[in-house]
Amino acid sequence: MATLQISSSSLFRYFFLTLCLFAIPSLSSDSDPLQDFCVGDLKASPSINGFPCKSSVSASDFFFSGLGGPLNTSNANGVSVAPANVLTFPGLNTLGLSMNNVEFAPGGVNPPHSHPRATEAGIVIEGSVFVGFLTTNNTLFSKVLNAGEMFVVPRGLVHFQWNVGKVKARLITSFNSQLPGSAVLPTTLFGSNPTIPNAVLTKTFRTDDVTVNKLKSKFAV
Ligand code: GLV
Ligand code: MN
Repeated sequence: MATLQISSSSLFRYFFLTLCLFAIPSLSSDSDPLQDFCVGDLKASPSINGFPCKSSVSASDFFFSGLGGPLNTSNANGVSVAPANVLTFPGLNTLGLSMNNVEFAPGGVNPPHSHPRATEAGIVIEGSVFVGFLTTNNTLFSKVLNAGEMFVVPRGLVHFQWNVGKVKARLITSFNSQLPGSAVLPTTLFGSNPTIPNAVLTKTFRTDDVTVNKLKSKFAV
């Protein structure tokens, strides 16, 4: 009868592969909580996975009234965002989620941005909004959504919204991270501190110093 021969090196390879397969999902979002809750102590320094827990909590730590609006949208983009993330609502610490209230003046644009740590899902509460995201091979998926309609933006992909209606519009968005982060492309590229050298930006955008300086002046911090 044939016997199965397994060398110690194939055994090692098998265990290594299994470990990698189990490790991948655990890296795909915020870590799972290890206790019922851990209201963040924002006065302490954050550790690798969020803030240390506050030693004493009360009911008010688990409720937040900051998403109701109305927000002031009189700014260059005609948009305003109120976040409920771990920094504004420390009860979210270690729970792996957060939300935004996003309000638009007529014609307002939430500029192209991405969230490095989260997938986004959103629902239109008021108005008509053109919602789009771009894949990593530059395909644009977009649709005009009205109140009650929902969208999703896969993690890390660049996306934007534009109020195409004649009245104000409003979205509520949610994220599978307590602090999704937001890289807003125009500010990242033209409003960094220190600024990206003009030589990099003129070549990148196939343009000249005058254009780059003009853009930098609009996003200067
Ligand atoms: C919308 O894209 C948001 O980040 O809230
Ligand atoms: Mn977003």
